[in-house]
Amino acid sequence: MPRPHIEFIQSQVLPWSPLGAGSARPGATGKSLSFDHVTQATTVMMKYPTNWILPEAHYLDSDEELFVLEGDLWVGSVRYAKGDYAYLPAGMPRPSMRSDTGAVVMTFHEGTHRTVYGDAPVGLYDPTRLIAKIESEKMPWGDPSDPIVAATANGAGRKLLREDPRVGDRTWLLRFGPDDPKKMTHGRTETHPVVEEVFLMEGEISMPYGTLKPGAYFWRPPDIPHGPVGTLKGLFGLFRCKGGPMTTVWSRDESPMIWSAPYTPVLPPDMVPLASASYDASLRY
Ligand SMILES: [Fe+2]
Repeated sequence: MPRPHIEFIQSQVLPWSPLGAGSARPGATGKSLSFDHVTQATTVMMKYPTNWILPEAHYLDSDEELFVLEGDLWVGSVRYAKGDYAYLPAGMPRPSMRSDTGAVVMTFHEGTHRTVYGDAPVGLYDPTRLIAKIESEKMPWGDPSDPIVAATANGAGRKLLREDPRVGDRTWLLRFGPDDPKKMTHGRTETHPVVEEVFLMEGEISMPYGTLKPGAYFWRPPDIPHGPVGTLKGLFGLFRCKGGPMTTVWSRDESPMIWSAPYTPVLPPDMVPLASASYDASLRY
């Protein structure tokens, strides 16, 4: 089964699971946010302990995309710190990996993500697809790509981290300032022809399924109408679209804006018991 609709889950309620010898990161722990049982693609929050090391030369058999939430992570001689982003294609040689301080890293694997020791077969690694490192905190904010968002959202800004030249998949950071609930009494619903995936790092998002707080995650398959969406505190999040470029079809009519809807998520069966779990709101994830 491809990845199910998950909208939304606070990552705080998900368990940290130890990753064993056969995993991509032996000795780390991970929170599985979403998983595709067909392709093995997954979004996982990876936690590396202090002085974690994978000393052997290796490669991964599928693409890995990463965004550091805290700490440091080394891949070979490249050090990633908070806010750093990379897209590491399948087969890229990795002399070693390590974390000195420990780290928490949003990690997106596009396939079976097997760690293979030794040299990759010739031709697997396509260096033209590599994004070795982007220090996102040093990037300037640009305009959101959607003209309606750019025109209506207060203080909206986007940092585009990646756009796949072949299929148009994108990864970006997005921020909005707070909406004024006195002015924003109604809003349009929106639909995308692609998957929309979001990890909220700051602020909140109000929508009919409830209010996302920092640490919230969703994976929304294509063609699912959603909204209206607003934010009373502003927001800062990591966004991806899969299956092509992000385009939006807006509803013609507006619906009432619901600022504090009860939490009524759409979740796969294994996550349903977690929906009612309480969590420490002071934790970021
Ligand atoms: Fe959307």
